Amino acid sequence: MRAQQPDLPAGCHLIALDSVDSTNKEAKAYAQSGAEAGTVVWARQQEAGRGRHGRSWSSPPGNLYLSVVQRPDCRPADAPQLGFVTGVALADALGKLTDIPVALKWPNDLMINGRKASGILLESAANADGQLAWLVIGIGVNVELSPRDLPDVTSLQEEGVTITVEELLSVFLGRLFWYFERWRQEGFEPIRERWMSFALPAGAEMRVRMPDGDVFGRFSGIDERGSLLLGTDNGSRRIDIGDVFPLPPATTG
Ligand code: BTN
Repeated sequence: MRAQQPDLPAGCHLIALDSVDSTNKEAKAYAQSGAEAGTVVWARQQEAGRGRHGRSWSSPPGNLYLSVVQRPDCRPADAPQLGFVTGVALADALGKLTDIPVALKWPNDLMINGRKASGILLESAANADGQLAWLVIGIGVNVELSPRDLPDVTSLQEEGVTITVEELLSVFLGRLFWYFERWRQEGFEPIRERWMSFALPAGAEMRVRMPDGDVFGRFSGIDERGSLLLGTDNGSRRIDIGDVFPLPPATTG
């Protein structure tokens, strides 16, 4: 018997695979050979899942791994905004399916009880005229399992939430395509506001690991391009690339 196809939003073309090296790699190959916007590569497991900054992404069966091809009419510098679009779509989807409180951590991590349950990897290419040719948005969600060898990671199941990969796939893609359209029509501001509603509280202390070293400061939001705004003892900074590590609140008295 054929497995039931998940409900999908209009304009979504799903390619469902049992196993692949990386859905991002596969989706990039589709994008390069002209696949239309809305193509989604979904795999039950990945043999060489990739994370940000060249890291690997643990990808056993039981979790969600997918990559979406988009062709937004924008400059490459605007592409990171689609990472925030994806983050709010996932936070909304989990809000619809579960009662679990979720938080978004800059730039693209979804956190549950202070631990990472999902990450997003964006890859893109530009045209000769300098506009974006295609963008691949890859997302991994720890539904059943989280890697045992990493600190501060979790899965929905470990947090007491039981949903299926298919349910999450369907609700998430519905929200993603809806938010993507909203971004196209109204720009980044409504996305930025929604993202901030899931973010750490303003003033939260954090360490940001950047390519040229660590900086400490207080979270003060994201700007109109999605850069992190950090208040430091030497003034306010805008940060484009880095990893955020929230610090425990200082104890006084
Ligand atoms: C991160 O480092 O936080 C980003 C992780 C992104 C993982 C997803 S899983 C689906 C897609 N395919 C990949 O190889 N990576 C992304």
